[in-house]
Amino acid sequence: MKIRLTVNGEPREADVWEGESLLFALREHMALPGSKNACEQGECGSCSVLLDGVLVCACLVLAAQADGHEVVTVEGLAENGRLSRVQEAFAEAGAVQCGFCTPGLVVATADLLRRIPEPSEDEIREALSGNLCRCTGYVKIFDAVRMAAGL
Ligand code: FES
Ligand code: FES
Repeated sequence: MKIRLTVNGEPREADVWEGESLLFALREHMALPGSKNACEQGECGSCSVLLDGVLVCACLVLAAQADGHEVVTVEGLAENGRLSRVQEAFAEAGAVQCGFCTPGLVVATADLLRRIPEPSEDEIREALSGNLCRCTGYVKIFDAVRMAAGL
C-alpha cells in the first residue's frame, strides 16, 4: 500500500506492506536511519519519534497508521543545518558513548523541554524513563538535559 505523510516538514510517500512498522519505513524507505532499532518491542526508546507532536516508539506504530500524519525524527531537530541546543548539549556534556540510544534520548528530551522548559529532576527522570542506555549510567544524560534547559 502507498502511504503519504509529512516527515521533518517535507511531504513523503512510500510503498509499505500492511504489517510494516513506521521505524522500518523511515529507515529503509525514506533514508532516515537516525531512529535506531534496538528491541523492536517498545522497551528501549531508541526509535523515539514525534507523531503529530506526541512522543511514540516508531517500532510500535504501523507505517500505515502514519498515513496522512506528521512525523518528526531526530534528523528533523537540527535547525537551519545546525545542531539543536539539545543535540549540542548531549555532545558537550559527554552524554554520548556508543550513541545507539542517543537519537531516542534527544527526541525525548526535545519533547520534554517543549512541554516543560524548566523541568524538575523528577520530571526529567520520568520523561526519559522509557529510554534505555547501556553505556553512560545516565549521569551525563541528565547533565545534558539540564544544560539544554539552561538549569
Ligand atoms: S526499538 Fe522501539 S522501543 Fe526499542
Ligand atoms: S550511549 Fe551507548 S547505549 Fe547509550
